[in-house]
Amino acid sequence: MKWVVVTVTVIVALVIMGALGVAYHLKTNFPKADPPYNIRVSGTPEQIARGRYLANHVTVCLECHSTRDWAHYSAPPLPGTEGKGGEIFPETAGFPGTLIAPNITPAALGDWTDGEIIRAFTSGVNKNGDPLFPLMPYRAYRNLMPADIDAIVAYVRTLSPIDHIPPRSKLNFPMNLIVRTMPEPYKLPKPVDRSDPIAYGKYLATIAGCATCHTPHDQAQRQPVENMQFAGGFQFQLPSGKTVQSANITPDVETGIGHWKKEYFIGRFRQFAGENAKHILLQDGMNSVMPWTMYAGMTDEDLSAIYDYLQTVAPIRNAVERFAEQ
Ligand code: HEC
Ligand code: HEC
Repeated sequence: MKWVVVTVTVIVALVIMGALGVAYHLKTNFPKADPPYNIRVSGTPEQIARGRYLANHVTVCLECHSTRDWAHYSAPPLPGTEGKGGEIFPETAGFPGTLIAPNITPAALGDWTDGEIIRAFTSGVNKNGDPLFPLMPYRAYRNLMPADIDAIVAYVRTLSPIDHIPPRSKLNFPMNLIVRTMPEPYKLPKPVDRSDPIAYGKYLATIAGCATCHTPHDQAQRQPVENMQFAGGFQFQLPSGKTVQSANITPDVETGIGHWKKEYFIGRFRQFAGENAKHILLQDGMNSVMPWTMYAGMTDEDLSAIYDYLQTVAPIRNAVERFAEQ
């Protein structure tokens, strides 16, 4: 009997040492990050205008970093809370812990360098070198072209300072360790030719998060399911407890948007433009996580490019009921 006890003890000891070793390795060798970039953005009026457009209508930074108003359709930011932070993404909605969007107004980022802000949203490491969970879409933003990155920083610097310190996110074990492997240094992406609508549409669909929300994700791995790009069926929980699923936006004629004309596609976004659109309400308190009211401010050129690109992706047959009975 004695050898059984000895063997078991040795195995348990090895497992514990192994686990401590892995934890130590993750704590000391990760996250992989560059030193903060040595960039100073001049903040010209053109940069600020471009950044305002992107942060409010394309990359929608202010969707998550403001107070979302769930009483209105697609939960637009409450005026006066732009950049304030404090939105909570709770465990009950399927997140591996409690994620809280930080304040990104100058009241909070005043002592960050431009390079530190850029490193945070393009590679997922904050000023202290701590990893950010990829709900903060740095995996999409690492595709941003340098001019757009500079524009976003220039604009973020102009937000009205709001004194408010939301609590920090808290990830559960083992995600609190795994998250350390997620940030990646920014690599200069291939330049995108704006006069090529398909290439530019692909760029916009990536940085606007269409690709992230419209591709189903493996819940455990938090990775997009292979060969299902834009096929929809990613499920989101609303604060009311109801769920909504992203639509199939591949060009499949029956289950996707293959039969949509360009004018109809653009019109679907435009219907959410203006103050009145906020008051469109679905039955029974149903709402959507898709920030339609923010995207409604995209230019015709940009929506048209996204449409052109989406018509070129692989059609996938996948019937999704966006607002299933519940
Ligand atoms: C889908 C929601 C979402 C969007 C969109 C988003 N963020 Fe974030 N952001 C977060 C969350 C959540 C965190 C905190 C992550 C964590 O604690 O791990 C965060 C963290 C940050 C941080 C780090 C701040 C700190 O104090 O550590 C910065 C800077 C930031 N975001 C800037 C931006 C910018 C700029 C954009 C747009 C280009 C943007 N974010 C878009 C959700 C979002
Ligand atoms: C935060 C997640 C999220 C993001 C980001 C997002 N969507 Fe959606 N989208 C959804 C969900 C959920 C639905 C289904 C509910 C609804 O119609 O709002 C949807 C619905 C749609 C529909 C309606 C399809 C139909 O049958 O009526 C279209 C078109 C669409 N999205 C396109 C886009 C495009 C283009 C982008 C990027 C500019 C985008 N979405 C970004 C979550 C998202």
